[in-house]
Amino acid sequence: MDKNIVVLPGDGIGQEIIDSAIRVLTKVSEKYKHEFQFEHHDIGGTSYEKYGEPLTDETIEACLQSDAILMGAIGGEKWDSLPTHLRPEQGLLKIRKALNLFANIRPIKGFAPLLHASPLKESVIKGSDIYIVRELTGGLYFGTPRERRDNGNLVVDTLLYHRSEIERIVEKGFESAQIRRKHLVSVDKANVLESSRLWREIVNEKSKDYPDVKVEHMLVDSAAMKLITEPTYFDVIVTENLFGDILSDEGSVLTGSIGMLPSASLSPTIGLYEPVHGSAPDIAGKGIANPLGMILSAAMMLRYSFHLNEEATAVENAVEKSLEQGYHTADLSIDGGKQVGTKEMTDIVLSNL
Ligand code: IPM
Ligand code: MG
Repeated sequence: MDKNIVVLPGDGIGQEIIDSAIRVLTKVSEKYKHEFQFEHHDIGGTSYEKYGEPLTDETIEACLQSDAILMGAIGGEKWDSLPTHLRPEQGLLKIRKALNLFANIRPIKGFAPLLHASPLKESVIKGSDIYIVRELTGGLYFGTPRERRDNGNLVVDTLLYHRSEIERIVEKGFESAQIRRKHLVSVDKANVLESSRLWREIVNEKSKDYPDVKVEHMLVDSAAMKLITEPTYFDVIVTENLFGDILSDEGSVLTGSIGMLPSASLSPTIGLYEPVHGSAPDIAGKGIANPLGMILSAAMMLRYSFHLNEEATAVENAVEKSLEQGYHTADLSIDGGKQVGTKEMTDIVLSNL
């Protein structure tokens, strides 16, 4: 298999962990006889420094021409005082919209050697395996008008969804549940929001096409509560953009190791893969960042964009084995384990692959 992968290291530790993913993918390509070409481009603050904007048309074009995109992380205090349209985050929002990455997949599953670090009791978190399907190109993030009026004293943000945008993400939720434990929780705020009422209608309509999936509606405030009191209750969660942003951060800390979690943002034709954690400017350049969320994102790319399931599983197993052997980076702790840096952790994963 011959694939052209655009690599967007971004900011902070993104610049370091991206190399770990490239090394792992290169090893996979040697072992399984694939050709992966890597083409580097910029996004976020790094792009702003070079080109005066957080995402250039050239980068977008390169992504559109590629088979898949790997991204590190974006952001940093350094760029916090820039006007909104130049901030690193805008690069991320713009690429989501430009590539039509409407489905954000965030699987949350703990690794046994790390569960002791969860803020929850081990008995509560044990066995949880949650798959969040978040709408990513609509809702409050993109609706217009969005402005200040009356000398800045009146603000407007707009929550806008077209039926077709809800339908496609809800379908994604059902399809995901179908190949997992067949339980879909649709999260909304239908007791208050009109958009949520349309969302609910569509979920009920679509449920007829997936009779094997048990579906239920849950209000977002109640879902936020249930996620910490009974995380094992959930299989697939499907929800709109802002609710998904909040619930996925809440979910990401449950397993005690946000540095481990991968994500995928998918359009009908292409996928962008990135770890859930941010650019961690405080530890950038020190060679101590955890590369495993990035490596697991590369595994997701193998599975979702290239349908290389065997290769993806091999990478995931290599990560798991490395943890079982007691190796971990500074953000984690394992009883009787050995703390290593980014490069060494990657070497160990490679040796287990
Ligand atoms: C995320 C992030 C982004 C979002 C920010 C950086 C714009 O929090 O990917 O969850 O809100 O979507
Ligand atoms: Mg977020």
